[in-house]
Amino acid sequence: MKRIAIIDSGSGGLTVANELFGRLPDERIIYVGDHGNCPYGNKSADEIKKLVFGVIRFLEQFELKMLIVACNTASALMLDELKERMDVPVIGVIEPGAEMAARATLNRRIGVIATQRTVESHMYRKNILENRDGLGVYEQACPKLVSYLENEGTPEEAITEALEEYLDPLREKQVDTLVMGCTHYPLAEQQIRRVWGRDVNLVDPARATVAHAAKVLRENGDLAVAPEGEHLFCTTGDVTDFDEKVKRWTPISRPVVRHAETGF
Ligand code: SIN
Repeated sequence: MKRIAIIDSGSGGLTVANELFGRLPDERIIYVGDHGNCPYGNKSADEIKKLVFGVIRFLEQFELKMLIVACNTASALMLDELKERMDVPVIGVIEPGAEMAARATLNRRIGVIATQRTVESHMYRKNILENRDGLGVYEQACPKLVSYLENEGTPEEAITEALEEYLDPLREKQVDTLVMGCTHYPLAEQQIRRVWGRDVNLVDPARATVAHAAKVLRENGDLAVAPEGEHLFCTTGDVTDFDEKVKRWTPISRPVVRHAETGF
């Protein structure tokens, strides 16, 4: 059985997995969260690439039909390298998210919240502005958010305070569309709405990413026709902790969760 691999630095990619469970219920995934090395967003590009290639080596023992790079930071830094390395289609989250944002804005002012490395890469800006003139794109790094959201013990006030700090500059730019440019951020969608208010289009790239993945599978004649076997959830971190998160954050009540040995 061929699976769709979804990789992320931690649990944020479960937002992409959830979208996939809804849209492509016959597909089976192998999810790898590099919790042992999370967050990626403040690490150097070389370090992130080394870690992601470790995850790719772990995946070599499985039969895959596609790789979805749910991590924005890895998508920003190394999507082309991953495409060269893999012999299955590789889908990132930035291009689909950028497309969605460009279509959603009415006042042509788009904000992007993302990790430090994603912001420095300006990949959202490049993709949003590709073949389009006259759009304002304002990128804001949110270095504290991934750790806050992975750690479920983070006090609500700390998250709200960080969001106020990160969202205020974008509100001043009067953006009408805000891209959650890190797969962890949709986990804070309610808090983002509370801090910002309702007058913003919140873009979660997961939806457009899975729509794109479905299109590629369909074009390649590779869509599953019936469900077969279990989804696999793997982590380089604590298996019990990830098991709890999968149960809490996805519709799967008895997940198969294993340790992933990536060499780091
Ligand atoms: C991170 O691990 O810092 C971020 C994950 C992402 O960029 O989606």
